[in-house]
Amino acid sequence: MKVRRAVFPVAGRGTRMLPATKALPKVLLPVVDRPLIQVGVEEVVAAGVNEVVLVTASGQQAIEDHFDAVPLLEATLAAERKQDLLEAVRQATELATVMSVRQHEPRGLADAVLAAAPLVGDEPFVVVLPDDMICGAVPCTRQLLDVATAHNAGVIALQRVPRAETDRYGIVATEPVGAGERPPGAGVLHRIVDLVEKPDPAEAPSTLAIVGRYVLPPRIFPLIEQTPPGYGGEIQLPDALRLLLAEQPLYGYEFTGRRFDCGQLLGHLQANVSMALDRPDIGPAFAAFLRETLAAMAAGNATGASKEQA
Ligand code: G1P
Repeated sequence: MKVRRAVFPVAGRGTRMLPATKALPKVLLPVVDRPLIQVGVEEVVAAGVNEVVLVTASGQQAIEDHFDAVPLLEATLAAERKQDLLEAVRQATELATVMSVRQHEPRGLADAVLAAAPLVGDEPFVVVLPDDMICGAVPCTRQLLDVATAHNAGVIALQRVPRAETDRYGIVATEPVGAGERPPGAGVLHRIVDLVEKPDPAEAPSTLAIVGRYVLPPRIFPLIEQTPPGYGGEIQLPDALRLLLAEQPLYGYEFTGRRFDCGQLLGHLQANVSMALDRPDIGPAFAAFLRETLAAMAAGNATGASKEQA
């Protein structure tokens, strides 16, 4: 299956990250020194998908600007012989072909995906929610594309979550796949039989949650148009996918890799720590800092405890 385009619905307001997102779109929050959106675009490019469709909202030009050239800045960096910084600035521009379209009102994730239809056309495509940051040896998008190609069908990324958290995700009901259907990778393949957006833990059909990576057929666009508002009064992707399921098979893939929910504070901090530790330039010094900090904390706690005992 040849997939050329990836849709990034990034119009969300990022309220869980306020006040940091008061004037800054949440996908421009940095993970070490790259904004979240760039980490996501790098993932799809590593999977061979070189055309990106950003779905933005009013006031979010800065996201588009991040992928644009900045001649004055580049000339200054060149004149100052700051080659590393110049390359870093240019890398974001040269990474992919970036297009954008506006979602005029916040009517839900499926509505945002539908806004990209004129730029995607009649081809299968990828959807990436960049605040789900996923690290691993094989990019998550690549893993899904391999499954989609093997089965010539749509695939969504899945991850097990604690039952108490099902109301934070789309949750799927699945059936096992036959031995012959198993994919090439190390993840676990499921055949999806139903999807529900953010069910109460008591009513969730499983604890398999939808994570923000999808490979979808273009048939989803007219089906989104037929999807009525659902959870929260918004047009939800799982509801449109349920209509798709009535017509064709849909797979779920428990990918390999580590996911960070960068749409909330703790996940964003964990992503930063993990990515910083992986960096050859700053990782060792940062690890030493963490060890010292934890040791000082432990020593402080021990002193406190011994004082209490005294
Ligand atoms: C969205 C989807 C949900 C999915 C989640 C993954 O929810 O609506 O089905 O499980 O992304 O991150 P949101 O996190 O935007 O509320």
